[in-house]
Amino acid sequence: MKKVNFFMMMLATTLLASFMFVSCTKEGPAGVAGKDGKDGEDGINGTDGTATCIQCHDNTQGLAAKSLQWEKSLHATGDAFARNTAECAVCHTSQGFRGNLDGSYDWTAEGAKITNPNPPNCYTCHAIHETYTPADIALTVSGAITLRNLTETYDFGKGSLCASCHQGRTVDPFPVVGGADITVSNTRYGVHYGSQSNMFIGKGLFMVGDGLSNSLHTTMITDACVTCHMAPGYGDQSGGHAMWMRNESGSLNTAGCVACHTDAAALAADVTALQAEVTALLAELKLKLDAAGITAAGSDYSIAGTYPVTVAGACLNYRAIVYDKSLGVHNPTFVVKLLQNTIAALP
Ligand code: HEC
Ligand code: HEC
Ligand code: HEC
Ligand code: HEC
Ligand code: HEC
Ligand code: HEC
Repeated sequence: MKKVNFFMMMLATTLLASFMFVSCTKEGPAGVAGKDGKDGEDGINGTDGTATCIQCHDNTQGLAAKSLQWEKSLHATGDAFARNTAECAVCHTSQGFRGNLDGSYDWTAEGAKITNPNPPNCYTCHAIHETYTPADIALTVSGAITLRNLTETYDFGKGSLCASCHQGRTVDPFPVVGGADITVSNTRYGVHYGSQSNMFIGKGLFMVGDGLSNSLHTTMITDACVTCHMAPGYGDQSGGHAMWMRNESGSLNTAGCVACHTDAAALAADVTALQAEVTALLAELKLKLDAAGITAAGSDYSIAGTYPVTVAGACLNYRAIVYDKSLGVHNPTFVVKLLQNTIAALP
């Protein structure tokens, strides 16, 4: 019992000593508050998270109008964007086009394919949502471009964007006057659809005969396709982002022409006359192609076989002018002369 009491006493003494030690280091009462320091300089204002966005996404209804027009274009309504593999995807899908420009889509790679393809849309032609500023309306292609089957470059102004897709595809060997016989192995001999940019500059075709020269359209219309096809149109039926040259009732949109052709009614008559002349020349050429055996009556498909270069080249010209679809308007003097020369070169 005594032993325990002694132990308890020792413990109490130790606790008391340690308490006194703690009490010795206790702080005194807080002093009077000091003066406020000088204010710091103002920082730079932060940007409003949506200030740049609303320069496009505003209530001027600009984007809505463009979207409405685009919805009527063949870019939006066509189904050729299902051609989503290899080189086809470069011109037929939005992602393939952008991917080919920035190198992320290598169409030559084995099994190259765009899944969930989109047709040409806002993101194909504009740098939408790259910087999230109005600068993103910039076109994805500008300056001179090289066309397939050619080595020199050509600047179509704003139309260089259109010409990146609307150009002939590679033909190898390309028919040249005086060249060797050509073996045609499929039903689609020629430069494919969309030959408009070749027709506009008069290059990348079978250049047979003398006296071929471009119409003044080639040099005078600096934005090429855009000047005529994207001029203000009729509602969402022609011009602008619908890009059609005629409205649903068939009248020509001359808004892009009148700066040069001041008399719109006279121009519409000139267009009708030119298109009738080209249609007749195409029919005359077609009879000669049928006679040479490279096409058959009633079909524009080529027939496999080996042909003199003039016959193969004439077939290429015929199909390119048909698929240009302007019936001469893109380059009036050149197209008429090329057709006359091609007809004259065939037996
Ligand atoms: C250069 C003009 C421009 C700017 C700046 C811009 N946008 Fe857009 N935005 C567009 C266009 C064009 C579309 C596509 C419209 C369409 O498909 O009809 C779009 C589509 C959208 C969509 C619809 C969804 C989609 O991806 O299709 C959203 C959401 C959007 N933008 C948000 C924003 C925000 C947020 C900002 C700012 C941080 C911004 N945008 C800045 C032009 C712009
Ligand atoms: C990414 C490639 C691409 C670009 C860039 C492009 N197009 Fe097209 N365009 C096409 C394809 C593909 C079609 C056919 C779509 C279909 O049939 O589904 C087409 C169709 C058209 C048509 C309708 C053709 C017809 O057969 O009646 C017009 C007109 C047209 N484009 C004009 C333009 C103009 C003008 C530009 C430039 C502002 C342009 N395109 C830029 C690929 C393109
Ligand atoms: C250099 C660009 C380019 C390449 C590469 C290309 N096309 Fe096209 N193609 C076009 C354009 C532009 C049009 C539309 C022309 C027009 O309507 O005037 C078109 C039209 C077509 C059409 C006609 C669409 C219709 O409904 O009338 C078919 C079919 C087609 N392409 C298939 C293909 C296939 C298959 C490939 C790949 C083997 C391919 N294209 C590669 C540019 C290209
Ligand atoms: C086939 C290519 C193409 C497509 C698809 C396209 N644009 Fe454009 N866009 C152009 C070209 C080329 C211009 C320049 C027209 C000019 O200068 O006359 C332009 C101009 C514009 C402008 C500026 C117009 C002005 O008045 O200053 C806006 C805004 C615009 N596009 C929005 C859109 C939207 C939104 C979409 C999708 C719904 C779209 N674009 C799809 C080619 C295209
Ligand atoms: C920048 C000026 C310019 C623009 C824009 C222009 N043209 Fe022309 N066009 C000419 C000139 C100059 C000629 C006559 C000389 C030549 O063909 O070399 C011509 C010739 C023609 C011809 C041949 C018959 C003729 O009148 O001599 C047709 C058809 C034609 N243009 C249609 C059009 C159409 C349709 C548009 C609009 C969609 C248009 N042009 C826009 C300058 C222009
Ligand atoms: C001089 C004005 C002019 C220029 C420049 C021009 N086009 Fe055309 N384009 C026309 C006319 C006019 C037609 C015939 C329309 C018709 O008769 O229905 C046409 C027809 C077309 C067609 C057939 C579909 C349609 O709208 O009827 C396509 C696709 C086309 N052009 C694309 C282009 C491309 C791509 C370029 C640039 C390389 C271009 N055009 C340059 C005036 C022009």
